[in-house]
Amino acid sequence: MTKNKSALITGITGQDGAYLAQLLLGKGYQVHGFLPRRSTDTSWRLRELGILDDVHMIEGDLSDLSSLIRAVEGSRADEVYNLGAQSFVGTSWQQPLLTADVDGVGALRVLEAVRIVNREARFYQASTSEMFGLIQAERQDESTPFYPRSPYGVAKLMGHWATVNYRESYGMHASSGILFNHESPLRGIEFVTRKVAHAVASIKLGLQKELRLGNIDAKRDWGFAGDYVEAMWLMLQQAGADDYVVATGKTVSVRDMCELAFAHVGLKYQDYVVQDEKFMRPAEVDVLLGNPAKAKAKLGWAPRTTFEQLIAMMVDADLRRLSSR
Ligand code: NAP
Ligand code: GDD
Repeated sequence: MTKNKSALITGITGQDGAYLAQLLLGKGYQVHGFLPRRSTDTSWRLRELGILDDVHMIEGDLSDLSSLIRAVEGSRADEVYNLGAQSFVGTSWQQPLLTADVDGVGALRVLEAVRIVNREARFYQASTSEMFGLIQAERQDESTPFYPRSPYGVAKLMGHWATVNYRESYGMHASSGILFNHESPLRGIEFVTRKVAHAVASIKLGLQKELRLGNIDAKRDWGFAGDYVEAMWLMLQQAGADDYVVATGKTVSVRDMCELAFAHVGLKYQDYVVQDEKFMRPAEVDVLLGNPAKAKAKLGWAPRTTFEQLIAMMVDADLRRLSSR
């Protein structure tokens, strides 16, 4: 009988961690989650997907190498997915050193843990389109130069290059997924799509009067997180490790996203959206637009969910949640 594969996921309680855990459980993996100690319960996403009891939790923190070594050993992981991060760009200006430590040096610590314990284990690094920042090409792909615009982007660039370096130095199967923005009903409330979806539902139900936003001219290449975790898994199933851009190839402004979300419940965004300096960033990434041709050609990956379906799904989920309270 063949042994079921074992996976270790850092950031398992986050949006992507929850969807990835669900995907891997469905494929028969034993799934281990790397769980930082928090004073409150952070497992709502795993509970909402109905998989909380199916994953094995190992306590630890990305700032603690010894806990990572214990986790890689204890899980006997064949595949390690490093999704854990301080992932909110805005916060990275308030906590730049923590962001550098968790997102940059943290990725290096995971690579070291894998190298020390079992360098045959395959490794995935959650890299980001935020590394393109001030874009150097109209459509960004794997060969576009990076120009990060936030402490978060700078930290993630370290994680990306550490991954490339461990692949080249030690022959490790270490891949970096350069993922563009991906959203879902499980998105954290601080990110703009979920903030808008939640506000639309609240306004529709008479629980909120206005929505305060920052730069609504910013444009993003937005996809559905459930589609994107499949690309992560596919990267680790290839004979060789590599780097891949994962995106939809379309870009939409925050303004047009608002229009769509409000229209979904029969409202006009102009009647509710107020611009507020408080949500502006010291340096903005004005536009992101990915070219996922390599992921399509080599992984056979393509997004399945349209932007319209994604926004409708998010607004409907928040309407359901708020109505059942
Ligand atoms: P998320 O919802 O913010 O989840 C982040 C996860 O990291 C949470 O489980 C969090 O745990 C954990 N974490 C934070 N600090 C940690 C620490 N010191 N030690 C261990 N775990 C820690 O993020 P996401 O949207 O799922 O994104 C997953 C990864 O992909 C992140 O690395 C993100 O930077 C990257 N990424 C995301 C996108 C996107 O659009 N979603 C695009 C490109 C790249 P707590 O909740 O307990 O803090
Ligand atoms: N969060 C937020 N809140 N963003 C706003 C607001 C607001 O009130 N108003 C305008 N925006 C603009 C931001 O300035 C940014 O240009 C855009 O909306 C998207 O912001 P976020 O949803 O916070 O995402 P992000 O693009 O900064 O970062 C996300 O995507 C990255 C990949 O490109 C995060 O998931 C990162 O972890 C990820 O790496």
